Amino acid sequence: MLTKRFQILDKTMVLRHPRMSDAQGLMSLINSLVREKSDIAKTTQVTLSQEKAWLKDTIKSIQSKDKVMILADLDKKLVGSCEITRDPYDVSRHVGTLGIGIIKEARGIGIGTKLVQETISEAKKKLGLELVKLYVYDSNRVGKSLYEEMGFSEIGRIPKGVYHDKKYKDDIIMTKRL
Ligand SMILES: CC(C)(COP(=O)(O)OP(=O)(O)OC[C@H]1O[C@@H](n2cnc3c(N)ncnc32)[C@H](O)[C@@H]1OP(=O)(O)O)[C@@H](O)C(=O)NCCC(=O)NCCS
Repeated sequence: MLTKRFQILDKTMVLRHPRMSDAQGLMSLINSLVREKSDIAKTTQVTLSQEKAWLKDTIKSIQSKDKVMILADLDKKLVGSCEITRDPYDVSRHVGTLGIGIIKEARGIGIGTKLVQETISEAKKKLGLELVKLYVYDSNRVGKSLYEEMGFSEIGRIPKGVYHDKKYKDDIIMTKRL
């Protein structure tokens, strides 16, 4: 079981694995990103029972080595989550897709960087992945810059691939070889 502690300014950040009791915290996290209309694929809020069902499936996928997921607590409050999910196809079992979200109040202090580093390292060690891909909207300046710093490069884009917050946006595909 992972537990890593970091000091960020006067706060303590802990990176750890998820458990069923995180359903409420994860629901609050995803719903805050939805309300904020942040650049993620989800645009509707979830209920606690939906989140519990999702978390149950997620923990099953982690146990079957099809997913890794790391959560970040800041002074004991769940503020961020990052996961990498193995592709379901026979021909791309060596590939995973990364997703990340952090509450607005906890951004810009390095939590995203630590979460991505740790999640990638677990995906390599535990899942044996060789390639990580992700999708980021061209409007997501901070996301793109974080991924570039982590060694991802843009390998393609789907022009107007998403319709988000009443605007068409390019969907950028980035990859990193592990
Ligand atoms: C994208 C996201 C995960 C970044 O997390 P974060 O904890 O804020 O990132 P960090 O503090 O580790 O910063 C990482 C890099 O991002 C860039 N960055 C962070 N905040 C920034 C800002 N306000 N303006 C410009 N660049 C910024 C910097 O390049 C920074 O590197 P630096 O430390 O060398 O300056 C976070 O903003 C988020 O959850 N956004 C909403 C959801 C989302 O967009 N998810 C990704 C969908 S693809």
